[in-house]
Amino acid sequence: MKIAISGKGGVGKTTLTAMLAYLFAKDGYRVTAIDCDSSVNLPFVLGIREKITPLSELRDEIQRRVVAPMGIIKLNPKVDDIFEKYSVKKHGIRVLVLGTIEKGGEGCFCPENAFLRAILRHAIFKENDVLLLDMDAGIEHLGRGTAKGVDLLIAVVEPSLRAVETLNRIEKLARDIGIDNIAVVINKFSERYRKLLDRIERPILGVIPFDECFIRADLEGIPPFELGCQMEAFERIKDRIVEIIRRATSRQRR
Ligand SMILES: Nc1ncnc2c1ncn2[C@@H]1O[C@H](COP(=O)(O)OP(=O)(O)OP(=O)(O)O)[C@@H](O)[C@H]1O
Ligand SMILES: [Mg+2]
Repeated sequence: MKIAISGKGGVGKTTLTAMLAYLFAKDGYRVTAIDCDSSVNLPFVLGIREKITPLSELRDEIQRRVVAPMGIIKLNPKVDDIFEKYSVKKHGIRVLVLGTIEKGGEGCFCPENAFLRAILRHAIFKENDVLLLDMDAGIEHLGRGTAKGVDLLIAVVEPSLRAVETLNRIEKLARDIGIDNIAVVINKFSERYRKLLDRIERPILGVIPFDECFIRADLEGIPPFELGCQMEAFERIKDRIVEIIRRATSRQRR
């Protein structure tokens, strides 16, 4: 399963990525989580203190693997050892950092993009594998070729007037790059905003209340799952994801 998590700044993308990564790993899935946000935060939330080399910094490695003699870009560079070499493992989760990759768009065949595409393609392998991408709202740098493999895009929204607008923006971006399966997680919810839920047309995977527990986890530098923040709500979200992807896959097979 390849899942991209998007949304505007500060809504809880990294929190959701960390919680899902932990829960999938606990269920025995082989989990890889990639921090694709330019301000790297996922390793910290997962309690990783050592530096992880961003994949975008592997200039020489990229050149060597992607650019063939005469400057031709290989479409299928070898990347299978990259995951082991440049990841840090914690709580059973393999964590990688993407770094700043140029937003090349569709027409761009820059080596970095070819490399990223190959990495994401490679990441999907067996039924038991889960790849989580902690993105920002600008998912366009996934590009068409990469996005095709994304089984589900989760838009995280906060209950605010702008939430629905953000959702529309994410939907448009997703459509442009060919992702159709989109679902929503509402985070930092409070009952006052219940009406907002009616305005969201996409399937809602779950609603996480505003909870001081996350702020404590953040301040103390402890992963939120170690403090048990809203575990049941996240468990339900995880189960729903499995169901949605299973349904989509069986539809494709038919
Ligand atoms: N349900 C919640 N209740 C209260 N605080 C929360 C909740 N979810 C996340 N937070 C807090 O909100 C802040 C932002 O969360 P997080 O870093 O996950 O968001 P983000 O979307 O990844 O942000 P960024 O755009 O900066 O990457 C963090 O301090 C986190 O602890
Ligand atoms: Mg984040």
